[in-house]
This record gives sequence, C-alpha cells and structure tokens, in this order.
Amino acid sequence: MASPLCCFMILCLRFMVCICQLQCGKETPGREEFSLNVTEHLNLESGECIRLPYELILPTRAVTAPYTKTWFNRDPSNIVTTTAVSELKAQTRDIFFMRGLAQGEYQYGLQLEWGCNQTFVFSKRIHIQVSALKKKPYIRMPVMTEGQPAVLLCETLQLCTGTGLTRWEWTKAEGQSPLILDYGALLRLTPTEEYHNTHITCVANYTYAVVNTTVAVTVKFPPKILNVSKCMVTGEQLVCVCVSRGDPLPVVSWPLLTFTEYSSSSSSRLQQVNSTITLPASHYNNATLRCMSSNELGHTETEIPLQIYTENSKANDVSVLKSDAAYAWIVVGVSLSLNVVLITILIICARKRGKSRQKEPCEEMNTYASLNVADVGQLYSVISSRNTKT
Ligand SMILES: *[C@@H]1O[C@H](CO)[C@@H](O)[C@H](O)[C@H]1NC(C)=O
Ligand SMILES: *[C@@H]1O[C@H](CO)[C@@H](O)[C@H](O)[C@H]1NC(C)=O
Ligand SMILES: *[C@@H]1O[C@H](CO)[C@@H](O)[C@H](O)[C@H]1NC(C)=O
Ligand SMILES: *[C@@H]1O[C@H](CO)[C@@H](O)[C@H](O)[C@H]1NC(C)=O
Ligand SMILES: *[C@@H]1O[C@H](CO)[C@@H](O)[C@H](O)[C@H]1NC(C)=O
Ligand SMILES: *[C@@H]1O[C@H](CO)[C@@H](O)[C@H](O)[C@H]1NC(C)=O
Ligand SMILES: *[C@@H]1O[C@H](CO)[C@@H](O)[C@H](O)[C@H]1NC(C)=O
Repeated sequence: MASPLCCFMILCLRFMVCICQLQCGKETPGREEFSLNVTEHLNLESGECIRLPYELILPTRAVTAPYTKTWFNRDPSNIVTTTAVSELKAQTRDIFFMRGLAQGEYQYGLQLEWGCNQTFVFSKRIHIQVSALKKKPYIRMPVMTEGQPAVLLCETLQLCTGTGLTRWEWTKAEGQSPLILDYGALLRLTPTEEYHNTHITCVANYTYAVVNTTVAVTVKFPPKILNVSKCMVTGEQLVCVCVSRGDPLPVVSWPLLTFTEYSSSSSSRLQQVNSTITLPASHYNNATLRCMSSNELGHTETEIPLQIYTENSKANDVSVLKSDAAYAWIVVGVSLSLNVVLITILIICARKRGKSRQKEPCEEMNTYASLNVADVGQLYSVISSRNTKT
C-alpha cells in the first residue's frame, strides 16, 4: 500500500528537480566568458551628467533570459539602478547614465542575475571622482542710477539635475550677513544711495551644488552738499569748506567769487570731495557764501553758513569753562552752608515739637527750605544767563 505512493512521490520530486534544473540554466560558466568594456576612470563636477557607453559580452550557453543588470556603488547591496533584459544576446551595448552626483568618490560595479538567483559580478569598476561645481552664475547688471528702476539678470547653467533655484542676496557691509532680496533669475530694484558700495550676490542652488557670484554695486547719484560744510573766520582769514558727495565724483565751485580773490584746494575720497577756499575776511563782509556742485546727473547749490569762530573766541571758550568751574564751587559751598543751617533749625524744631506736640509743623523750617531751593535756582539762572551771553 505504502510503496506505490512512495514511488509516486519520489517520481514527483525527481520531475520537479528536473524542471528546476531546466529553469536554472545549464552549467556554471567561467569568469573569462564574461566581459565588460567600459571607461574605468572619470572626473567631473557635481551636477554634471554621467553618460558612459559600455559593451557587455556574456555566454549564452550559461546565462538565461530574462536576466537583470544591476549597477551598484562599492557593494552589490548598494543598488543604484536595476534593469531587466528580456532578450539574450552574446554582445550588448548600453549606456550607464546618471543625473549628476554630489561631490565625492564613487565606484560603480555591475552584477548580472538570471535563472534561480544565479549571479555574476564583474570585477571591473568605474571610478568616478566628482569635484565641486566650478561653473558660477553670471550677473548682468546695468548702470545703476539713484531713483531709476533697474533689472539685474542672473544667468545660470542648466545642469543635469536641472536649472536650480536662483536667489538674490544683498550684503550691505563687509562682515554683515546677507539679506535675501528676491528669488528667480530677474531682480528688479530702484537703487537708492544705500546700495552704493554694497554687494549683490546671485546664488544658484542645484540639487547637488550651491554656487554664487557676487558683484559690487555702484549707484550713480547727483551731488549732495553735506551739512558739515561751513565758513569760519580765523583771524584775518575767511576759510570755507564745501563737502559734496556724488557719483561720478562731483566738481565744486564757488560762484560769485573770482579767482583772484581766493586760494583754494580740494581733496576727494570715494564719492566725496572737499573744497576749501581761503580769502581775506575783509574782502567778504556778507554773512554767507554759496557753494555749487555738479556732476553729469545734476547740480546743486547751497549757502554755506558762517560760523564766527576765531582764535580769540577759542580762548574765550576756555575761560568760560574755567568760570563755569568756579561757579560750580560757589554753588556747592553755598548749598553746603545752607544745609548746615537747615539741619541746625531742624534740630531746634524737633526739640520745640517735643515740648509742645499740639503746635503746627515748624514754620521756620519750611521758610528756610523754600529759601534754600530758590537761592540755588537763582544762582544757576545767573550762571546760565552769563553763559548764553558769552
Ligand atoms: C572597448 O570599447 C572601445 C570603445 O568603445 C573599443 O575601442 C575597444 O575596442 C573595446 N574593447 C574591447 C576589448 O572590446
Ligand atoms: C531568489 O530571489 C528571489 C527574489 O529576488 C527571492 O525571493 C528568493 O528567496 C531567492 N531564492 C534564493 C534561493 O536565494
Ligand atoms: C537649497 O535649496 C534647498 C531646498 O530646495 C534648501 O533646503 C537648501 O537649504 C538650499 N541651500 C542653500 C545653500 O541655499
Ligand atoms: C558664496 O559662496 C562662497 C563659497 O564658494 C561662500 O563662502 C559664501 O558665503 C557665498 N556667499 C553667499 C552670499 O552666499
Ligand atoms: C546734518 O545732517 C544730518 C543728517 O543728514 C543730521 O542728522 C544733522 O542733524 C545735521 N546737522 C546739522 C548741523 O544740520
Ligand atoms: C572732508 O571733510 C570732512 C568734514 O570736515 C572730513 O570728515 C573728511 O575726512 C574730509 N575728506 C577729505 C577727503 O578731505
Ligand atoms: C553781498 O550780498 C549782497 C546781497 O545780499 C550782494 O548783492 C553782494 O553781491 C554780496 N557781496 C559779495 C562780495 O558777494
């Protein structure tokens, strides 16, 4: 009873093994029967496409279709891409393609798999060295003029990973962290003097790399005469300084004066020009002089205030300071003595109060207290009025 069943089962098993052997391929192939022809060393920048054609030779008597081709990095467990091949050919050509890589080193290998999990790993490796992206964005900047709208353009490269995200940053001063102005390839702005001598950066953020380009910004602006400009009488001389800022560097002139009347000098630094004129004070009795400044963007003219500031008045200033100190001492002395009087009265009052508690608060004390305040106040007002006179 048992033996026919047993025989049947053994037959079944043998049949299954046969099927399996049929599916699992014919024989174990030798390594020399496989070959991979591909570039083994490659250097590129991050974000660049990787396109490596390769040729594959495999033994058709051993490998069965369908089979899979798996590219891995360093280790077969680190799979990068897997493709299934349905047709078996002794020689195939294909392309190893990747949409860019981050900076670093890579080693790609190929594994074939067919039948009942039969595998073959090629010993050849593709060594890829990926360096930082050196291709920077390019900024097109027009001439910037104060108050006139301008459009800046940032040209970025199309990398294998895409165009990347573009953003604009503004660095107001060295060492300051940049401010984000806008996103996108275009930056529209109406420059003010605040942008002058600052930096604008275009940042291109790609999948595997971030690069930037910075340009220095100069903003043309019409001249502005600064309020540090002044005229001073020093002894016999009238010295006037006119300070003007502008870009391009403005010229400063003194209308209503002829060259014979004065000597002048001027100096400039960055966008600022200082023009100093010296003329005999007797030649010029008017209270103000006019200074004029112009560049290609415009011109301005202003009256320079006259500051009566002579060698003598300088000395006066010092004596005023000295007398100030003297008055301060007097005030301290007077208030001290008044305080002594006050305290004495307080003590007397306290004693009186102690004797007769029903009496009103000490009147004398109040009188002295108010006197004290008024006296000091008067002293101060005397000092301040004296000061204003000098
Ligand atoms: C490998 O490929 C290169 C170019 O694709 C070819 O010149 C060379 O003959 C090939 N070598 C072999 C062994 O097939
Ligand atoms: C063969 O591979 C399949 C899928 O890849 C897996 O499920 C199976 O366990 C493997 N068999 C052996 C014997 O490795
Ligand atoms: C680049 O963009 C990604 C988002 O797309 C962001 O997470 C990352 O911080 C950005 N990198 C830089 C340096 O701006
Ligand atoms: C621009 O890139 C450099 C590195 O290449 C970095 O040091 C700098 O901070 C970046 N500047 C801005 C404004 O992102
Ligand atoms: C000069 O101008 C600045 C601002 O431009 C102002 O703060 C300052 O008070 C002015 N000084 C005088 C003396 O007018
Ligand atoms: C111009 O004058 C201003 C104010 O007097 C001064 O601060 C500045 O240093 C001067 N600049 C030059 C270039 O002389
Ligand atoms: C002085 O000012 C008057 C008007 O205020 C003007 O007519 C005259 O020309 C000025 N003198 C000089 C030397 O500039």
